[in-house]
Amino acid sequence: MSGKLFVGGNWKMNCSKKQADEIIAMLVKGPLSKNAEIVIAPPALYLEYVKSKAPAGVDVAAQNCYKEASGAFTGEISPAMIKDIGVEWVILGHSERRAIFKEDDALIGAKVKHALSAGLKVIACVGETLQERESNKTEEVVFRQTKAIAENITTWENVVLAYEPVWAIGTGKTASPEQAQEVHLKLREFLKKDFNKDLRIIYGGSVTGKNCKELSAQKDVDGFLVGGASLKPEFIEIINARG
Ligand code: G3P
Repeated sequence: MSGKLFVGGNWKMNCSKKQADEIIAMLVKGPLSKNAEIVIAPPALYLEYVKSKAPAGVDVAAQNCYKEASGAFTGEISPAMIKDIGVEWVILGHSERRAIFKEDDALIGAKVKHALSAGLKVIACVGETLQERESNKTEEVVFRQTKAIAENITTWENVVLAYEPVWAIGTGKTASPEQAQEVHLKLREFLKKDFNKDLRIIYGGSVTGKNCKELSAQKDVDGFLVGGASLKPEFIEIINARG
């Protein structure tokens, strides 16, 4: 898809007010490409703080939410609460939510449906494990995960699909540009064939200032979901990967 490079920064469970101030100062200093759409995702406790300090052109996302508006769900946050503090995005289905917190396709699909119905924009994540890739199950896995998301999409323009091979997350073992392009193209063809729709498809998994240009040059890579590097000055290089 044409258009701006979508660059998400997933801080995961890493933040303090001091660290948030440092990252915000880095983004204020820039320079930030006008050809990039930037969304940073601090931990929930810091959403309102970061939202209040983020420079123009930098949006904010929650890293997760539940599938209900309110109720007896101790510890959870709802899309309504995220909207209530002026935050417009949420990441859903991250592989860490799937592996550590045992979120399955059905729950992630229900979360996508509810978040969209509440007016949030969604970065929805899919990706195979090393064992699944080595068993030649990449396509089967990412199609299954994507179907569970796509079946619940009501507002397609408010969804970005993130392909994050689990074996590349936090490992320094980035997918090659060819590997990323291959899966992104297959996902795009799957969405066209089964849903007659298209989505921005972004790559996540050890994206750095060094590999972002070659990855962003791939025809079907529409941007990135960055973890570790989003906490560092090289995040600016990644934002400017396409100039
Ligand atoms: O959500 C993005 C994240 O999973 C990628 O992490 O540290 O490999 O860039 P990292």
